[in-house]
Amino acid sequence: MLKALIFDLDGVIVTTEHNHFIAWKRTANSLGIDFEEEHNELLKGVSRVDSLKKILELGAKTISTEEFNELLISKNDFYVDSIQDLNQTDLLPGVLSLLQEAKSKGIKLGIGSSSKNANFILDKLAIRSYFEVVIDGNGVKDPKPHPEVFLNGAKALGLSPKDCMVFEDATSGIAAAKAGGFTAVGVGNPNIKAQADIYLNDLTEFRVEQYA
Ligand code: BG6
Ligand code: MG
Repeated sequence: MLKALIFDLDGVIVTTEHNHFIAWKRTANSLGIDFEEEHNELLKGVSRVDSLKKILELGAKTISTEEFNELLISKNDFYVDSIQDLNQTDLLPGVLSLLQEAKSKGIKLGIGSSSKNANFILDKLAIRSYFEVVIDGNGVKDPKPHPEVFLNGAKALGLSPKDCMVFEDATSGIAAAKAGGFTAVGVGNPNIKAQADIYLNDLTEFRVEQYA
């Protein structure tokens, strides 16, 4: 029985995945590493530290710990700068109506994101109050594809994973949801269609009454 919906944030709720791509492309190019959309697929849902590690692997490059940490800061500064004007018009299709409908039916809502900027973004979007629980990159030891972020979410909601659906746009996120025993709903990224239990082009296609 469906009791909760747990959403990834970047790429499921809001368009920020593109901002991450632009910021990482800038970082990669500054290191002389080519970085295109197909490379970015490997980074979706992946923590900030692991993302930079993957970029360095891509370019077969080694840098000092100092430079590594500086790049993490400059990437995040550039990224945060690029999302200063974020607002409700940046919500992906169907988000607001799904949150409202689920709430009205007594279904609990949560966020399970790898981002350390999750609360900042939720406040910009003015949707923070819909969620009983927000688990973000600050509260997780093992990032996606490990299921910790979603398991912590279900635990905080007092529910078993089998009663929760997880909405994800990333390969790492679908893997995390499935490893945790959740129903994994893939959204808006054809690359994850085969791995997801259910696939939606966008959230307008989700019918709460089908599962509640
Ligand atoms: C995930 C994004 O939600 O958060 C990744 O899909 C991003 O692209 C990761 O790297 C970490 O985000 P942040 O905001 O903490 O750098
Ligand atoms: Mg995502």
